[in-house]
Amino acid sequence: MCTVVGYIGNSFCSTFIFEGLARLEYRGYDSAGFACLDANSHKLLYSKSSGQLINLTERVKKEPIDGFLGIGHTRWSTHGDTSQENAHPHFDCSKTISVVHNGIIENYLKLKEDMLYEGHTFFSDTDTEVISHLFEPIKEKENVNAGDVAAIVQQLDGAYAFIAMLQTFPDLLIVVRKKSPLCIGMGDNEMFIASDVIAFAGKTNKVIFLPDESFALVTKNNVKIYDFAGNELSIVVHHTAATFETADKGEHTHFMLKEIYEQKNVIIKTVDSLQSKKTMLLEQLGFSTDQIKNTENICFVACGTSWHAARIAQFFFEAVAHIPVSVHLASEFRYNSFFPHKNTLYVIISQSGETADALEALRLINAHGLSTIALTNVATSTIVREAGGFLVTCAGPEVAVASTKAFSTQLAALYWFVHYFAYAKNAIMQENLLQAEMDIIHVAHVLENALEQHKDIIDHIHAMHYAHYDKALFLGRHISYPLAMEAALKLKEIAYVFAESYAAGELKHGPLALVDKNMPVYIFSHRDPIIYQKLLSNANEVKARGGIIIAFAYADQNELIELAETAFTISAEIPALLGPLAMIGLVQYFIYAVAKERGCPIDKPRNLAKSVTVE
Ligand code: F6R
Repeated sequence: MCTVVGYIGNSFCSTFIFEGLARLEYRGYDSAGFACLDANSHKLLYSKSSGQLINLTERVKKEPIDGFLGIGHTRWSTHGDTSQENAHPHFDCSKTISVVHNGIIENYLKLKEDMLYEGHTFFSDTDTEVISHLFEPIKEKENVNAGDVAAIVQQLDGAYAFIAMLQTFPDLLIVVRKKSPLCIGMGDNEMFIASDVIAFAGKTNKVIFLPDESFALVTKNNVKIYDFAGNELSIVVHHTAATFETADKGEHTHFMLKEIYEQKNVIIKTVDSLQSKKTMLLEQLGFSTDQIKNTENICFVACGTSWHAARIAQFFFEAVAHIPVSVHLASEFRYNSFFPHKNTLYVIISQSGETADALEALRLINAHGLSTIALTNVATSTIVREAGGFLVTCAGPEVAVASTKAFSTQLAALYWFVHYFAYAKNAIMQENLLQAEMDIIHVAHVLENALEQHKDIIDHIHAMHYAHYDKALFLGRHISYPLAMEAALKLKEIAYVFAESYAAGELKHGPLALVDKNMPVYIFSHRDPIIYQKLLSNANEVKARGGIIIAFAYADQNELIELAETAFTISAEIPALLGPLAMIGLVQYFIYAVAKERGCPIDKPRNLAKSVTVE
């Protein structure tokens, strides 16, 4: 998703801005740009480039520009193609005002139409450009006052975080936020602005998270914040412990591979961290033992892979805590009928903690004064700040766009949490919680052993063989159905193979018509003997139609293994509910190997972004 970075202070800004953009590069983008006010003349200078940030860096090396204030951007296209013209910053008619923006201006067409009628000149197809033109009336004023900026932002609908820089005000950056994230790092006679604190981690630990629907007038030694009516707001300065570690693939060919291999350790780290916080967890979750006891339902809200984790966790909560669970896609939740329920615990799952749909769903629930907790991998994220309480996974930074270790640590944290929750509700004994902790750690080892056991044969035989197929069907039942969904999503996003996932029992209600000798059918088995028998029937139905079966099974499930063209097995000695966690490493590795064989850009699949901050 788009990233904005800004600087105002006593140093030349380009080094910080390029480093900030590079630190947030993993979020995904397709072009980049930089603008600054020349240190001597204060003339607005800019450079833009389509493609990777390195293209822009090279361009600025050849034709250097720099100044004491500047703005930078990486763009993930929404309106207009990925050309240099559409890269940010965008300008007013005279190119003396520049703007970088993350979000969508929903009413830009109407604004643009009116502006074209008034004679404004446009240089791009983006929605962003209207913002720069809206600033034109203030560029000749003596001062920028809050009322002027409020009058501008009141005209903009949608979600946006933007920074505006005006040639006529060389001591000022104007920073605006509605929905999309934005923060200001307060240094010594310098201010850093960015979509995420990671951009300025290590430069200052004082950070202002700009409140929703507010804007800031930022000079090198002062910040003033106002609401959209122009009223000054008090400033809350947070202290952040965020650090930045240079992401390094080590000996691995891709970040995704490195992250698949990190899973055993980060699962154990996540359990250790939750275990060590047990005594103060209620405070962090923002509710009391009585509230847990009174909880009648759990409602999960998430997107993509995090939604799959929620679908799996549904089985945890229903089986261990005997509590009904509903699971919602965040993008649908907001537009469906909502029946607020005070004894429901609403759990928002988002590894990044910045996903726009998940955040807006959280805000909707919060507006009803209900209990919310966030499960994320980023303790400083917006969703953590806005939820009533939080749980954090310890996956560490996940660079590959396709989520692997963030997903498995979510499963580990949710399996741990359901036992903590059930114990607090007196539904299980303390021994059960301790056993669950040991089981997760055991399964983390099973995950890695399964990888080691099958890695060579996948690399040398299976990847090449299965890379030729352009479609696939994924089947599971009960808890292995959401695992099948997650596997299908991974194959789509990193190998560009059309994949459809189904609850295996639905096979004969339609999708069986697709099965033939050109269609690999992936079957994800289950530990439960009755469910296994049903899956076996489905496997036979596929086999009878000449379908190719790839089974992910338990070591003792010989019938399924024999029906399959290829079978991957994991140790049978694990609790049924932890089956998806035990299998996921192997599944990810297999799909990774197929994608590699197909020559796909695994870490940065086309059209996707790591942090989805627009709806
Ligand atoms: C797929 C993937 C996405 C994310 C989704 C939600 O591999 O990573 O489907 O799971 O965009 O992201 P978060 O969890 O950050 O809210």
